[in-house]
Amino acid sequence: MFRNKQIVLGVSGGIAVYKAVELLRLLVKAGADVHVVMTRNACEFVAPLTFQTLSGNPVHTEMFNLIQEQDIGHISLADRADLVLVAPATANVIGKAANGLADDLLTTTLLATKAPVLFAPAMNVNMWENPLYRENQAKLERYGYYFMTPAVGALACGWEGQGKLPDPADIFDYAQTLVRAERDMAGKTVLVTAGPTREELDPVRFLSNHSSGKMGYAIARAARNRGANVILVSGPVQLTPPQAVEFVGVTTAMEMHDAVLSRAASADVIIKAAAVADFRPAERNGQKVKKGGEEQAVLSLQRNPDILAELGRLKGQQLLVGFAAETDDLLANAGKKLETKNLDLIVANDVSQPGSGFDGDTNAVQLLYRDGQREELPLMSKDEVAWALLDRIVRQQQ
Ligand code: PMT
Repeated sequence: MFRNKQIVLGVSGGIAVYKAVELLRLLVKAGADVHVVMTRNACEFVAPLTFQTLSGNPVHTEMFNLIQEQDIGHISLADRADLVLVAPATANVIGKAANGLADDLLTTTLLATKAPVLFAPAMNVNMWENPLYRENQAKLERYGYYFMTPAVGALACGWEGQGKLPDPADIFDYAQTLVRAERDMAGKTVLVTAGPTREELDPVRFLSNHSSGKMGYAIARAARNRGANVILVSGPVQLTPPQAVEFVGVTTAMEMHDAVLSRAASADVIIKAAAVADFRPAERNGQKVKKGGEEQAVLSLQRNPDILAELGRLKGQQLLVGFAAETDDLLANAGKKLETKNLDLIVANDVSQPGSGFDGDTNAVQLLYRDGQREELPLMSKDEVAWALLDRIVRQQQ
């Protein structure tokens, strides 16, 4: 995967710098040509000579270095990169990148590059949780930068919590998915649905489910990064819509139905990751419903349209992908949905398994194809599941 790829490995200052040495070793072993850029603080933890010896390339520490400038101007590092990887990425470097600052070679490279950028943050747990830091990361994510989630554990500063640099092997795995980033969906329109729907009982109460939208948003980002025009129809979630996608926010299943059906004809691929409510209250009260002396109340529900089944009936050349969230008989139930909704592919997730399904950052899915084939993917981040799913979709369309 990394053969003939030029990777810029940005190393910023923190105790985890020593783990970047292991990451460098993995990249070099996989055939990458790695150019290391270290901040001044990073050099306090591990000497540049270590990185230089392992990469076989000079390590860049200065913005203007007369010897290095001769054959590798500081901007050309940014130009020649297939991927810029920052590990460990401190809150300081991330903050500077989020605000467009370029006061050293690493931040200049980050601002100048057009390559995908992956940050592997490492910091104190309180910094990680600080809303200022969170805003910086969210801003960068909106602009298409990638982030790994730090690991939880004992931190060098004495605190316990989230903030440890992810395992170098995990960073390496994530980086693999990004260097492959061919724009192999260019010219395609991909319609993605994400999140839950809300079905109101009255102005203060609603029926809904646990979907956070993370799976659908990951698919929308991945499709955008592979060059597709993306339409994201999303129920109410706490996520910021990705940049450079057509975003349609909806609340109810009926609204999602109308938003999807009115745009479906223009889509080459439709991926329905949303968790749509099958029923809505038969009546919506205009005022908050008051409780009386009753011990039990009965709620009358009205069926919502099955958007995916309707798309299946209308389907022409489009590729139609559904998700199935199951707690039992995963394959039988998902297989039935594949068949009855006339899908090309269904992504089955057992939402009763740890690390899988609603809200978390990971998912473990099985892919069921129309011709009866089945493929089981290991537990991965939702970004990686999205990428793997799009790989299969691209292959089906060839
Ligand atoms: O959002 P996250 O927190 O990241 O969680 C991800 C997820 C678990 C929500 C996602 O991976 C997932 O499984 N989504 C589908 C959940 C679901 O509603 O499954 P279902 O088995 O009820 O529906 C099957 C398919 O029909 C889905 O593609 C659904 O979008 C679609 N459907 C269902 C009902 C309906 N009225 N209209 C539909 O289009």
